[in-house]
Amino acid sequence: MCKKNFYITTPIYYPSDKLHIGNTYTTVAADALARYKRLTGYDVMFLTGTDEHGQKIQQRAEAKDMQPKAFVDEIVAGIKDLWNMMDISYDKFIRTTDDYHVKTVQKIFKKLYDQGDIYKGSYEGWYCTPCESFFTDTQLVNGNCPDCGRPVEKTKEESYFFKMSKYADRLIEYIETHPEFIQPESRKNEMLNNFLRPGLQDLCISRTSFSWGIPVEFDPGHVVYVWIDALSNYISALGYGSDNDELYKKFWPADVHLIGKDILRFHTIYWPIILMALGEPLPKQVFGHGWLLVDGGKMSKSKGNVVDPVLLVNEFGCDAVRYYLLHEIPFGSDGLYNSEIFMNKFNSDLANDLGNLVSRTSAMIIKYFGGEVLAPSSEEDNFDKELKAVTLSMPEKVEAAMNAFKIPEALDEIWTVVRRANKYIDETTPWILGKDESKKDRLATVLYNLLEALRFVTVELEAFLPNTASKIKEQLKFENVSYESLKSFDGVKVGTKLEKGEVIFPRIDVEKKLEELAAMKEAQAPKREIKPIKEEITIEDFEKIDLRVVKVLACEPIKGAKKLLKLKVDLGGEERQVVSGISQYYKPEELVGKNVVLVANLKPVKLRGELSQGMILAASSDDDKELFVVDPGKLETGSVVR
Ligand code: MSP
Repeated sequence: MCKKNFYITTPIYYPSDKLHIGNTYTTVAADALARYKRLTGYDVMFLTGTDEHGQKIQQRAEAKDMQPKAFVDEIVAGIKDLWNMMDISYDKFIRTTDDYHVKTVQKIFKKLYDQGDIYKGSYEGWYCTPCESFFTDTQLVNGNCPDCGRPVEKTKEESYFFKMSKYADRLIEYIETHPEFIQPESRKNEMLNNFLRPGLQDLCISRTSFSWGIPVEFDPGHVVYVWIDALSNYISALGYGSDNDELYKKFWPADVHLIGKDILRFHTIYWPIILMALGEPLPKQVFGHGWLLVDGGKMSKSKGNVVDPVLLVNEFGCDAVRYYLLHEIPFGSDGLYNSEIFMNKFNSDLANDLGNLVSRTSAMIIKYFGGEVLAPSSEEDNFDKELKAVTLSMPEKVEAAMNAFKIPEALDEIWTVVRRANKYIDETTPWILGKDESKKDRLATVLYNLLEALRFVTVELEAFLPNTASKIKEQLKFENVSYESLKSFDGVKVGTKLEKGEVIFPRIDVEKKLEELAAMKEAQAPKREIKPIKEEITIEDFEKIDLRVVKVLACEPIKGAKKLLKLKVDLGGEERQVVSGISQYYKPEELVGKNVVLVANLKPVKLRGELSQGMILAASSDDDKELFVVDPGKLETGSVVR
């Protein structure tokens, strides 16, 4: 019989020195879906990879005095190691520096240009290098990047543009007539109402101010800019546009692009439009999952709250991490990472529920029957019937949940069987049956039923916790582990001999581990070096400085000076003009009416032709990303600051 195909992709990752636990979520979730489809008989193509071009990479390589390719090679090797460590079963790993991808992107660019969808123009606006994004004046927040809050640079350069608006109506119609295309539903409305309906701007798709990118073949000096390069990976990986496009014919359109919600706009607007322009079918579904947050919100290096998946895998094992990720991020919304919850979940769900069920079942078979699995009797009581019914109905429920990408719910269905089996032990009291020779048949039935329930659990777990599934399979000597065998409750082989095995999830002493983890984190945290303290001064020196409370009466930017603001301040009845380099941090209207501290006896100077009679005191972060003017409260103007 011809197998059904299933094509699933993750985003291709930016080569970052260390992917955090949040980054690994997309790939672990995609892996569970891919494994599940393989288990249930599909021919699966699971694609992941790396997104290696761009100005940021070029700059990071230059800072290390390396060629960009050599620089990314090292990082990509690390990412592949991480995926191995997390048991990610990808079928193909694409790198945007791979030759075939480069050729395909060049072909796509040329085709779009030849058919008039791309034109040459010039781009003027603000550019945030870390985010590799352009912004207009109105999009900036306090003059900074609206996404990361960092300073932006003014840029003007010749660029190619894609005429997005040409396809907007077709895309709106497509989205409206294909309700399954953007999932979850709420994200669909966000895309339609916030981006598509208000009107699409043309997309800048080439750059000339850096060179680390795919060259535009017919216009040297231009490199393809970010999204056309990155998004095309989903089809170039299948051989689209090459001499051998068998995989493309077989697997395209993708069944699902699984992505984080932050890149939904690119996948549900730009990507479908590129495909429409190419005359190719659109992916069947784009699923935007939520974020894994840590206690303080988003994970970021600067907040120092990044959770390292390698550390967790080394401490608790890959499946403990997979279980947490797969179970704790609800369908389509955000989830939380917290070490204490992680360990408590480990103890309750993995060590207690599942681990204990495995060890109790095998220990009793060893204790009462010397390890031999005996045949069950044909008589059934209500407990048996209920356990069987719950177990036999589980695969279908898991399937329904997985088809709707409700991974946590799928795991819940499996755990319903695990918990029902534990309850069955309490109900049937095998330790009492074991004391009575005449109850041996009944005991054999109870233990057989437990093993059989565990066999169902093990077969399904292959998709979620593959390493655990192998361990249970080995320990309980399951031979019959095909998905088809889950149709009837009799797959465990009578006569199998079990031996004592290892504890699969040893309980964690949560308090002790939390202390250890905190100590480890502290030891690893880079020590902050504060700026050296200046040469010592005497109190007399200090008293020479006259600091006063002043109120800002008026404030405006100085034309042509990016950082400067001109302020009128009241110094207890005397009006002064001060020029201050704080326009990146404050809008003029935010300062008006505010009391600030002025160095009042500083010799006046002219800055950009404007007189500055003093200096406003402010505190700033080491990297100058944040700055706050010193607040003297509501004191009268003219008051002395000491
Ligand atoms: N290179 C682009 C994708 C191009 S796809 C054609 C990119 N790369 S990324 O490395 O920044 O992100 C990879 C994936 O990690 C994205 O799906 C992103 O949403 C996801 N996540 C990053 N931080 C995350 C969390 N804290 N939680 C969950 N997913 C997160 O974007």
